[in-house]
Amino acid sequence: MKPFDVYPLFDIEPVKAAGSWLWDKSGNKYLDFYGGHAVISVGHAHPHYTARLKSQLEKISFYSNAVQNSLQEELAEKLGRFSGYPDYSLFLCNSGAEANENALKLASFRNGRKKIIAFGNSFHGRTSAAVAATHDPSITTSINRQHEVKFLPFDDEALAAMNIGSDVCAVIIEGIQGVGGIREPAATFLKKLRELCDRHQAVLILDEVQSGYGRTGKFFAHQFAEIGPDLITVAKGMGNGFPIGGVLISPAFEAKHGLLGTTFGGNHLACAAGLAVLEIMEKEKLVEHAQQTGETLMEKIRSIDGIKEVRGKGLMIGLETEAPAALVRKTLLEKYRIFTGSSGDKKTIRLLPPLNTGKTEVDYFLSALSAVTASQLIQK
Ligand SMILES: Cc1ncc(COP(=O)(O)O)c(C=O)c1O
Repeated sequence: MKPFDVYPLFDIEPVKAAGSWLWDKSGNKYLDFYGGHAVISVGHAHPHYTARLKSQLEKISFYSNAVQNSLQEELAEKLGRFSGYPDYSLFLCNSGAEANENALKLASFRNGRKKIIAFGNSFHGRTSAAVAATHDPSITTSINRQHEVKFLPFDDEALAAMNIGSDVCAVIIEGIQGVGGIREPAATFLKKLRELCDRHQAVLILDEVQSGYGRTGKFFAHQFAEIGPDLITVAKGMGNGFPIGGVLISPAFEAKHGLLGTTFGGNHLACAAGLAVLEIMEKEKLVEHAQQTGETLMEKIRSIDGIKEVRGKGLMIGLETEAPAALVRKTLLEKYRIFTGSSGDKKTIRLLPPLNTGKTEVDYFLSALSAVTASQLIQK
């Protein structure tokens, strides 16, 4: 047997990592400005993260959700306090798609409806309802199209008002669109969605799978708009590479035994990873660090010749270059050994480094980017 070939792979195999750096089999060193798709929040092989996981592994790594697991309570308490949602509850699962699938299901349990409102260029994962709410027909098939989903353009308040009525189950939106190319919804638009959902008893779901966990310089991107969603979904940075996801659920939702469930969600190792991440974020003030580092990085990128546009917040950055984005990314990787991300919007390069990336890394990235864009400009 061999792996099912669904991923286009770089011819690089990292075998070791630390902080914002990776090493391949031949000892070549790479700068990680992609965080393995926004997953690495507290840096690779952080000593506290490694020690907490090792110690948990030696005690107990898994038992089912049929027994007490105080690590789940500890994680829920810490996440609630640190994120600014102490009165919400937490349902734990294993990935971003699963978090959104459960959030959509909870919404439907609550109001008994099924119509979903989602947005152009959205990405919410690859499971049934999550992929149906994802604006990419190339990754959906007949089985997904049974869901009733209406896609609206970002920031169009009039269209939102026309389409969000008493037949709508849930409105799902990313705090900042990631795969779609680092696009922020306007604060006024998020406020409008909150108002429309309240008026029609529809459930507002904020997908913070990519934009959450401090990446944007606030714990959640929607906190810039000062709104409170009914459900918030998280994954990626939550476990720094250990598979864990979750739904933060407003107190208006009532839990009932059997309503949701999973075998692996909230297992001991996953909770240890989740707790280690929050402990490091709090101790090292990584949310503030992401905000400050991101601000400096974006300002300096804007001053480089050959840069067309820089978007985003904190360390969730999208940049457009005058030279084709794919060529700039390829040169950054092949010549300077820097990983960056592509996006659904082919013009945009995504930067999603670990939240504790430092000055050395930022300076190296900036000098490489200047050299690449300058050489592309000369070639033109
Ligand atoms: C905003 C958003 N939601 C959901 C997902 C799906 O997460 P996962 O791949 O963990 O299922 C992603 C993944 O890229 C994402 O960016």
